[in-house]
Amino acid sequence: MEKLIVANWKMNPGTWQEAEELFGAVKKTGAVICPPFIYLKSLAPYENLGAQDCFYREKGPYTGEISVTMLKDLGCKYIIIGHSERRKYFNETDEDINKKVKTVIEAGLIPIVCVGETEEERENNKTEEILEKEIRDGLDGIDYSKIVIAYEPIWAIGTGNACDIEEAERMKEVIQKMTSKNIKIIYGGSANADNADGYLNQANFDGLLVGGASLKPDEFKRITE
Ligand code: 13P
Repeated sequence: MEKLIVANWKMNPGTWQEAEELFGAVKKTGAVICPPFIYLKSLAPYENLGAQDCFYREKGPYTGEISVTMLKDLGCKYIIIGHSERRKYFNETDEDINKKVKTVIEAGLIPIVCVGETEEERENNKTEEILEKEIRDGLDGIDYSKIVIAYEPIWAIGTGNACDIEEAERMKEVIQKMTSKNIKIIYGGSANADNADGYLNQANFDGLLVGGASLKPDEFKRITE
């Protein structure tokens, strides 16, 4: 099965010129690229465009927000939902995430729903409890065959401290038990060219959600090879 490699540029790289150069360097990989909203129109019609978030209302007086209809119109196929940075800095709740996931599916796009525990939660043996809550509330009433789950342990994001391959695989199995054996699960959290093979081929994840390394063209290309 083909692996799903997703570049989450987050609020990078900085200027449009840098974004254009980065895109030019990685577009041949065919990976899903999720740039900041403002670049989407210029990068269309790239066939694997994704967005980093959306709002669950279709249109109206919601200053600063972007609807799924708008993203679909620009050719987005995937939308990252419930990233831990959105939960942390923008107070997104599992209830918000549930509404967003439903809206994305209704529009025929694929939500990439992020779940994962903080370092403190892991140290207190709360990991499974956290995942269970995020899945129960965030994915309530959702058809698991229509989504991708990204297991992103928060302590591994942007730290260079990636999750052990065996432990990540164990968490993948925990998530499968909570959802479905056939659900697509990708890994995120300091994924790079050196550890990608372990997640993809040893732990058998269906893909990777890549932050920092997606901003380094040579490294990102190696991940997608
Ligand atoms: P890093 O790859 O920089 O750890 O970020 C992971 C991430 O949050 C992707 O969504």
